[in-house]
Amino acid sequence: MLTISEVLIALAVFLLIMQFFKLQRVRKQLPPGPIPLPVFGTLIQLNFQFNRDLLMKVAKIHGNIFTLWFGWAPVIVLNGYQAVKDGMTTYPEDVSGRLVSPFFRAMAKGKGIMLATGHTWKQQRRFALRTLRNLGLGKRGLEHRVQEEAHYLVAFFASMKGKPLDPSFPLVHSVSNVICAVVFGHRFSREDESFHELIRATEHLFKFGGSFIHHLYEIFPWLMCRLPGPHKKALSCYEVLSSFTRREIRMHTEHGIPDEPQDFIDFYLAHIEKSRDEPRSTYNEDNMVYSINDLFLGGSETTSTTLNWGLLYMVANPDVQEKVQRELDAVLSPSQLICYEDRKDLPYTNAVVHEVQRFSNIISVGMPRVCVRNTTLLGFPLKKGTIVLPNIASSLYDPEHWETPRQFNPGHFLDKDGNFVSQEAFLPFSVGHRVCLGEHLARTELFIFFASLLRAFTFRLPEGVTQINTEPILGGTLQPHPYRVCAIPR
Ligand code: HEM
Ligand SMILES: *[C@@H]1O[C@H](CO)[C@@H](O)[C@H](O)[C@H]1NC(C)=O
Repeated sequence: MLTISEVLIALAVFLLIMQFFKLQRVRKQLPPGPIPLPVFGTLIQLNFQFNRDLLMKVAKIHGNIFTLWFGWAPVIVLNGYQAVKDGMTTYPEDVSGRLVSPFFRAMAKGKGIMLATGHTWKQQRRFALRTLRNLGLGKRGLEHRVQEEAHYLVAFFASMKGKPLDPSFPLVHSVSNVICAVVFGHRFSREDESFHELIRATEHLFKFGGSFIHHLYEIFPWLMCRLPGPHKKALSCYEVLSSFTRREIRMHTEHGIPDEPQDFIDFYLAHIEKSRDEPRSTYNEDNMVYSINDLFLGGSETTSTTLNWGLLYMVANPDVQEKVQRELDAVLSPSQLICYEDRKDLPYTNAVVHEVQRFSNIISVGMPRVCVRNTTLLGFPLKKGTIVLPNIASSLYDPEHWETPRQFNPGHFLDKDGNFVSQEAFLPFSVGHRVCLGEHLARTELFIFFASLLRAFTFRLPEGVTQINTEPILGGTLQPHPYRVCAIPR
């Protein structure tokens, strides 16, 4: 006689075998790739990793469009500039969905911009873009806010009088303050404890993203959401962000909406009023909170990490640093406010800023998309709901488009006469209908902060330190290992 457990084991084995054959059948219609196994998909072959070099290695075997299986779900990966660009722009609308995985659904509930899809996403994104553009105009516009923060940052570095410091916190502080000025209409002082809490919460969320526990949550959400652990901490960090935003909104509603809206919240509150009678309106307080959270999550860690890499690369490449400074000295006067427009007279500095962004590749492989309808991607028919990953790293490191992809080389953006040349494979903000919403603000910030810092200081390693580690820590974003520098006033 068979015991119950033997029957159950036999049944489980039978189901796994059936599942295996089903996977092999489904797989035939998809782009090629490693052989998926039940439950784990191709995660075992990939050692449960999902990093840029591994994906580029898989592309060498299977081609520039291939399929990986994340548990039960196929993920179509695009590799290299041409595949990423064609895949994202041939039928841009079809691949404009966002993968709202179980963890991100628990976090943002499909609201706001970054983790929304369809009608909500379209309305919220269009509104945010238009509002950022409106806020960019005028004397108190975005660029002025960036210049103001750059001024505070330079003053802070100066107050250190050349003593060693870890630049990451002052950078996050300044960059977050730009978003605060845009969204809330005011900045926070370096001492403000609630602002520190906000920054710590954002950093924690980024550290959690892509971690092992995060992956476990995505595969076994029904189990993980009942267990304690780091995922609960990450979700509570998101709540910190939301309640901070709600408090600022309350302060705005108490003061009433001014005739001339001054910040994102003013614009949003006015728009809720205006669209009250529209039947399909998604303008409400929840979407406002999540949109603002998205501006924070999208806009602070990314830009400050890029600047952090920039200083590290300057320390590692003193000849590049010196050349930037020589150009800045020749073109700008010492006290002149630096504008984004000045990049046109500063081709070398502009090339260095671009190369910092390319080489640091902070978003690593990028954010997955989802097909919002049946479509074809580079000739392969895909069903609605299929996940597509345009691997940004593979474009920024594409050996067919960059002379020395694995080396820091500002020459990638210069012609032989030293003029700036843009490069089509430079896609750090991705491409297509979901391209980064803050691209213009980010470019303005990177240029003004970087040029302001290098005009005021020379960055050097502290006395006695000789090792520079320019390898990234793998996580939600690619971060440098913590380091200290001396900002020597010039
Ligand atoms: C160096 C700085 C930055 C980099 C490298 C970067 C990169 C990216 C990338 C790769 C995406 C995903 C696009 C896709 O799905 O294909 C994205 C989305 C987004 N970014 Fe940025 N970003 C930066 C700065 C900013 C800033 C300053 C803001 C805010 C003002 C911002 C707001 C957003 C938002 C809201 C989205 C979601 C867009 C959507 O899903 O429609 N980002 N960013
Ligand atoms: C999408 O494709 C699937 C299978 O290929 C098919 O069953 C379904 O009817 C299609 N949906 C639409 C809206 O064409």
